[in-house]
Amino acid sequence: MSDTRPIGVFDSGVGGLTVLHQLHTRLPAERLIYLADLAHFPYGPRYQHEVRDYALAIIEHLVGLDTKLVVVACNTATAAALNLARERFDVPVVGVIAPGAQAAVEATHNRRVAVISTEGTRASQEYVHAIKEANPGVGVLGVAVPELVDIIEAGEASGPRAEAILAGVLDEITGWGADTLVLGCTHYPLLRPTIERVLDGRPMTVVDSAETTAGRVERILAANRLAASGDVAPAPQLLVTAEPRRFSDTAELLFGDALPQPTVVALWASADLSGAAR
Ligand code: DGL
Repeated sequence: MSDTRPIGVFDSGVGGLTVLHQLHTRLPAERLIYLADLAHFPYGPRYQHEVRDYALAIIEHLVGLDTKLVVVACNTATAAALNLARERFDVPVVGVIAPGAQAAVEATHNRRVAVISTEGTRASQEYVHAIKEANPGVGVLGVAVPELVDIIEAGEASGPRAEAILAGVLDEITGWGADTLVLGCTHYPLLRPTIERVLDGRPMTVVDSAETTAGRVERILAANRLAASGDVAPAPQLLVTAEPRRFSDTAELLFGDALPQPTVVALWASADLSGAAR
């Protein structure tokens, strides 16, 4: 039996496209719908209860589009809303923190794992909990690097600003003795070439939760007999909650010209759209 209903994926902006890309590559028969909440970007500095309310409203919208599974492709929203979403919705809801934490525990040799993330994710301590749930003997250094999200969203992941910030952060992390670095924000895989350049040969295993989450989704689809089989699905559908600026540039970077233009959805009837100009 092939279940051809789509998988819903969301983030505050372009970051979750890294997860979408991994899903698309790994599960080519699956139809994918991606929603970027540009009206409320960035999530990182917001209160947890705000992010939780946005995430729950988005999941409700995606469930209304007959999705068979929803991926919270945002660490900040996973930390704020995953547990409640699982209580509230019948569809399986998959977050990005547990898969990355598990992969980090498997990768570390010296049991020292660093996690870079937004302030919201760091403050939630969800990575500390998830890593120590997998192995309580692993030490965790959490570093919030909120500026990087804006830089990436502006299309400057390889530029000098990103490089200067990463130089300081990676010095701190290597000085602490970590042998494994978790990219605890779905925007950060776009920084991988810059991270490699700044590390300049210093040994570090970089764990990208986009890859590990796609593997988890594959296993959950199989275990619940939800997988689509057969033909390659059409290109993912893109939805945004406010007019996009550089969104298409990043989409093109990851997917080439394979993606359609995003459609603006009016999800927030009377919402504060102060983030829309970003
Ligand atoms: N990509 C999101 C994450 O993984 C956060 C970006 C933001 O601050 O909105 O946390």
